[in-house]
Amino acid sequence: MIYIGVMGHGVVGSGTVEILHKNKDTISKRTGRELVVKKILDIQDFDVSYRELFTKDASSILEDEDISIIVEAIGGIDPAYEYTVKALKSGKHVVTSNKELVAQHGSELLNLAKENNVNYLFEASVGGGIPIIRPLRQCLAANKVSEIYGILNGTTNYILTRMKRAGLGFDEALKEAQIKGYAEADPTADVKGHDAGRKIAILSSIAFGKSVPYAKIYTEGIDKIDHIDILYANKLKRSIKLIARAKRHEDGVFAMVTPVLVDNYSPMADVENVFNAIMVKGDAIGDVMFYGQGAGKLPTASAVVGDIIDVVKHLNATSVGVSGSSSAMTVLPINNFSSRRLIRLSGNNLDIVNKYANEVFKNSTIIDLDNAQAMGEIAILTDTLTEGEVDSALKLLKKKVGAIQILGSMRVE
Ligand code: HSE
Repeated sequence: MIYIGVMGHGVVGSGTVEILHKNKDTISKRTGRELVVKKILDIQDFDVSYRELFTKDASSILEDEDISIIVEAIGGIDPAYEYTVKALKSGKHVVTSNKELVAQHGSELLNLAKENNVNYLFEASVGGGIPIIRPLRQCLAANKVSEIYGILNGTTNYILTRMKRAGLGFDEALKEAQIKGYAEADPTADVKGHDAGRKIAILSSIAFGKSVPYAKIYTEGIDKIDHIDILYANKLKRSIKLIARAKRHEDGVFAMVTPVLVDNYSPMADVENVFNAIMVKGDAIGDVMFYGQGAGKLPTASAVVGDIIDVVKHLNATSVGVSGSSSAMTVLPINNFSSRRLIRLSGNNLDIVNKYANEVFKNSTIIDLDNAQAMGEIAILTDTLTEGEVDSALKLLKKKVGAIQILGSMRVE
């Protein structure tokens, strides 16, 4: 019998208990052991059939010698970090979906796990149910990975899809994502791009072999996207996606999270609703793409239970012998990143804005929505420019026109 302690009975914790119960026989056949959830930690009370398993006292799980595997589904840093350290030090394996903790303390916790000859596994921290951490560590280990690119947040992809397909407003679409259990407890991390930033930091740390500090990753969210942006996207035959990317350079990693207008012919445009897609570029394999449900109760719990099964198969060893990296990678400034931009502008006199915008942004095109002028704005699609060139051109435009408002500025691919 293998006893499991579950910390946190939210979306992921409750999904894990559900899968362990529902697929009990299959899991037991696969592992040759019976897996039993012995205790569940949560500060709330739940009206469920397994009520007697609940405790509000973390030490009753951490100090229970029968429990050999802990599922940390609390999320955030405090108290998840403290409990994880205690669990690993007392020789318990830890499985988690907590991307915030992995992005911030992953290397240290992996090293601690190795020192104590236990596992710290976090497949569920990126891409929900999509297998990506293990493939990066194992199946693609022969490759030198040069780039990771994709949609890593289910909530924002769901919101953007609903805005485009159903004409919903941002708030309404976010509410739906919260009801479906996709969003974080505080959805700011989703909509401002921090969740995707943490995930690209985790993936690139594994792929590039050095920790990538997520706080240094340039991040823009989707919180300023409105229905007019969707109209422009449709006009340009593009879809708005929150894209996370990390590209290895000789002197560091170039990493950013931003909304991007992707071509409707590109595979990323077809990734809708809560689905995530991650493209990995390796020197031997070329491009490989991972696709699946990036958030939600059972998809995420599927990854947690997959890790539990791996632990059961490696009870006396670290499953993939992974160490945390002791050194950090330099995150390069984004000034030299080039793309086209769709810039929405308004001002007292739109004809003057139009005239100078064309002058300042050479080889640009005005994108006409039928009633854009009536809405009091114009939009300009620039030539390929670096981030630095766009900033300088906008400064110059402001100087020439005076009162001007930048309503939006999105990268176009
Ligand atoms: N809030 C996250 C998302 C959950 O929407 O992608 C899965 O990590």
